[in-house]
Amino acid sequence: MKREPHADALGELHAASQAQPNIALIKYWGKRDAALNLPVVGSISITLESLWTRTEVRFVPGQKQDRVSLNGRSDEAESKRVTACLDLLRQRAAVDYGADVASRNNFPTAAGLASSASGFAALVHAGTQALGLDLSEAEQSVLARRCSGSAARSIFGGYVEWAHGQRVDGTDSVARPLLAADAWPLRVAVAITSTAAKQVGSSEGMRRTAQTSPFQSAWIDTQEADLATARRAILARDFEALALISEHSCLKMHALAMAAQPGLLYWNGATIECMHRVRALRQQGLPVFFTVDAGPQLKAVCEPSAIERVKAALKDVPGVLDVLDTGLGAGARSISASTLEA
Ligand code: DP6
Repeated sequence: MKREPHADALGELHAASQAQPNIALIKYWGKRDAALNLPVVGSISITLESLWTRTEVRFVPGQKQDRVSLNGRSDEAESKRVTACLDLLRQRAAVDYGADVASRNNFPTAAGLASSASGFAALVHAGTQALGLDLSEAEQSVLARRCSGSAARSIFGGYVEWAHGQRVDGTDSVARPLLAADAWPLRVAVAITSTAAKQVGSSEGMRRTAQTSPFQSAWIDTQEADLATARRAILARDFEALALISEHSCLKMHALAMAAQPGLLYWNGATIECMHRVRALRQQGLPVFFTVDAGPQLKAVCEPSAIERVKAALKDVPGVLDVLDTGLGAGARSISASTLEA
């Protein structure tokens, strides 16, 4: 079934959407099918609030190619991924127009801050609206997954689980909300320790890990138990239990990747110093834990009462350039032209 596409006077189909990055507490690392982007493990994340991607998509009748601008610049590698993602939407809608895509992040891109998660969730949401496709959030999550795995989770807000799934076509490897953001409003301090783009992207890092890391099977074998522990902790709002399992999943993922050949080392000195600082705070009784993705930024997740002390402690670590602070937020949604320009 199709909804009315958002056509303007020129017959162009357009829409604008916002999505926020998510941070995995139980990590996704590894693909069992690279074409469909099916993961070797399920994962659990939290969607952030004040970091965002805002994306406008305009399908133009007669236009042959896509024109993509990210933060005001064109980027060839990213443009290819955007076109591949738009192709999935165009197939669904039986439309062959090229699109103009303008996307903006209010945080550093491609440095382990999940810009692909918010980017592709916003793109799939806006593209779906522009083409008038009548897709459920679950269906949008499946499409976002095919564009970038973690984007499947940013379709939803709060605490989210992306399932491994069983079907070969991947239609059940989809994210679903576990708990709303305001049901347990944790906060996140993000310590920025570098703004350089990472040297080895997630897809390449996962491929190398699967091919060469001796720990790959242990990673897969132990994930179900971690997911069950995290799910229980979230539903019980048990901070201590979530802290322990999240740090475990983070360190396990990095150990797995470090054992690849050549080893993947996403941290810098400040990242490690921040980990020690977070653990010292927890030993002093502060409800806080860390997690780190495929980049050098450290995310400290805490109870709201701890956020000021956590931020101050991270700012004090040599090599920390900045500390961002956010709550947990909503899933992908439409935005108005004035929000887009703000
Ligand atoms: C370390 O979703 O960026 O952040 O599916 O290849 O686009 P692709 O990978 P991506 O990988 C994210 C990896 C991670 C862990 C996580 O978010 O679960």
